[in-house]
Amino acid sequence: MSAEINLFSPIQLGAYTLPNRIVMAPLTRNRASDGNVPTELNAIYYAQRASAGLLISEATQVTPYGQGYPATPGIHSPEQVEGWKLVTEAVHTHGGRIFLQLWHVGRISHPSLQPDGVLPVAPSAIAPAEGEASTYEGPKPYVTPRALETDELPGIVEQYRQGAANALAAGFDGVEIHGANGYLLDQFLRDGTNKRTDAYGGSIENRSRLLLEVTAAVVSVWGADRVGVRLSPSGTFNSMSDSDPKATFGYAIEALNQFGLAYLHLLEPSEADERHGGMLIPTSYFRPLFKGVLMANWDYDRNKANTAIANGNADLVSFGQLFIANPDLPERFRVNASLNKPDPSTFYGGSEKGYIDYPALELQAS
Ligand SMILES: Cc1cc2nc3c(=O)[nH]c(=O)nc-3n(C[C@H](O)[C@H](O)[C@H](O)COP(=O)(O)O)c2cc1C
Repeated sequence: MSAEINLFSPIQLGAYTLPNRIVMAPLTRNRASDGNVPTELNAIYYAQRASAGLLISEATQVTPYGQGYPATPGIHSPEQVEGWKLVTEAVHTHGGRIFLQLWHVGRISHPSLQPDGVLPVAPSAIAPAEGEASTYEGPKPYVTPRALETDELPGIVEQYRQGAANALAAGFDGVEIHGANGYLLDQFLRDGTNKRTDAYGGSIENRSRLLLEVTAAVVSVWGADRVGVRLSPSGTFNSMSDSDPKATFGYAIEALNQFGLAYLHLLEPSEADERHGGMLIPTSYFRPLFKGVLMANWDYDRNKANTAIANGNADLVSFGQLFIANPDLPERFRVNASLNKPDPSTFYGGSEKGYIDYPALELQAS
């Protein structure tokens, strides 16, 4: 028997003792019902995966103006809170823990997704250079967003605080602030998208201000030991860039230390980031800067994850695609079983198919 720490070593994550270090990554599946309300179908999907040490919900808009894709759930209406209760109760009945990922997409939205057909908001009036907006009528060219006025920013912070309060009312165990993947908070952090001249732009301190204000507001609702933050320092998805990502994210991560958060969730550089010419910074670079629990993500498998945990580069690992296809991923890892293959054609939208019908091990064996 080895005393080495691995995916099956329990860990203290803020307020919670997790039975394993296998986390379900946040995964947008575009299966909310009318009004962007979660349903029984969503509850079944999450409950099937409750053996994860922690589940992180799909990204969930804190305001109708923060929606960027069809049928993504929200956490701003009473109906959505009621819908999410189905999910949290089902996960708890199956012995799991679930955090909600708080989201505002900023410039990645489209007028057709906005309540009054208005322009999406962003730090600066710069449209994404590549890709198309996802709308109910199919892909459409991105529009140039409207730069938020300085006096609107307290209102944005308040939307996150209210979303966090609604998540508490919905029975979640905590929340993750989505600061990654080119959405609003990431747009403020990086100088490719933030050209502001007020207290929220220019210096790294100023560009980190909105993330830190949102974190303080969310912590005021939940306490820091039930709040995580997700960042993607090397990410180029959604046309993101920064002139000095080591300095930008190094500052933001060290500033987050003041809160004593439950965890920091970092994305590793990807092949796509390499293709886009991004600076590839492994999460191990940031490891010494964060004085808390570090969750790593991107393209990990069982062996890579065990190695990262054993050598101290990560405390936990989150899995995205593997959790889509393997509801019983921890058990499969435990016995080193073969894995179901995810079907990308059913990732975004649809119903049961490719969502709640991936078999668990017992079913396959019978
Ligand atoms: C279908 C799909 C939906 C995703 N939705 C989200 C999301 O809502 N929030 C988020 O932070 N990342 C999202 N991601 C990124 C994943 O959390 C994760 O970073 C990515 O899948 C890499 O991890 P993996 O290699 O284990 O799949 C999504 C990825 C996929 C494939």
